[in-house]
Amino acid sequence: MKNIVILISGAGSNMATIIQAAQREHWRERLGARVAAVISNRVDARGLTQELGVPTQVVDHKAFATREAFDAALQQTIDAYQPSLVVLAGFMRILTPGFVQHYEGRLINIHPSLLPAFTGLNTHQRALDAGCKVAGASVHRVTSELDHGEILAQAVVPVVAGDTADTLAARVLSQEHIIYAQVIARLLQDEMR
Ligand code: GAR
Repeated sequence: MKNIVILISGAGSNMATIIQAAQREHWRERLGARVAAVISNRVDARGLTQELGVPTQVVDHKAFATREAFDAALQQTIDAYQPSLVVLAGFMRILTPGFVQHYEGRLINIHPSLLPAFTGLNTHQRALDAGCKVAGASVHRVTSELDHGEILAQAVVPVVAGDTADTLAARVLSQEHIIYAQVIARLLQDEMR
């Protein structure tokens, strides 16, 4: 069985749609894969309160003096599941190069912009300020350079008159929910071949 581990920091809506896609599309039977665990760096992550039948764990970054110490503890927690894929779904921590290297080829992220535009934070407000006519989200492999790495899929949405960062974020998020599970299923399929 191929294990998927999802890392979250917040609402966990991407996490939920991935877990639901796995159930609905029978990933276990078709792809020999399951979401084995959800791990949060925040005790108060809203995503932890969703009852989705997947074990959850917390590795609280505030309990560690350095980024390296946190990443080492996180890595140990993840590796207990021997994951084929580690999925960052609104995981808001910068990862150390050692951590990223350890998961090379099996670590992916979703970012709320059309990369390489708008890496980092406040992507929607920055897209509005720049006068963009379209916005979107990107699923990409994680490298030690923030929000870089091979782009695996993108979704494009229009920017409409009167948009605020919140309305644009909601429009983008609804597309994130479609493309992230699709990419994961494709990667698992490729691995099966
Ligand atoms: C999503 O929009 C995701 O793209 C973004 O955080 C949100 C998490 O929502 N990720 C980043 O900004 C990573 N740099 P969710 O917790 O409801 O899935």
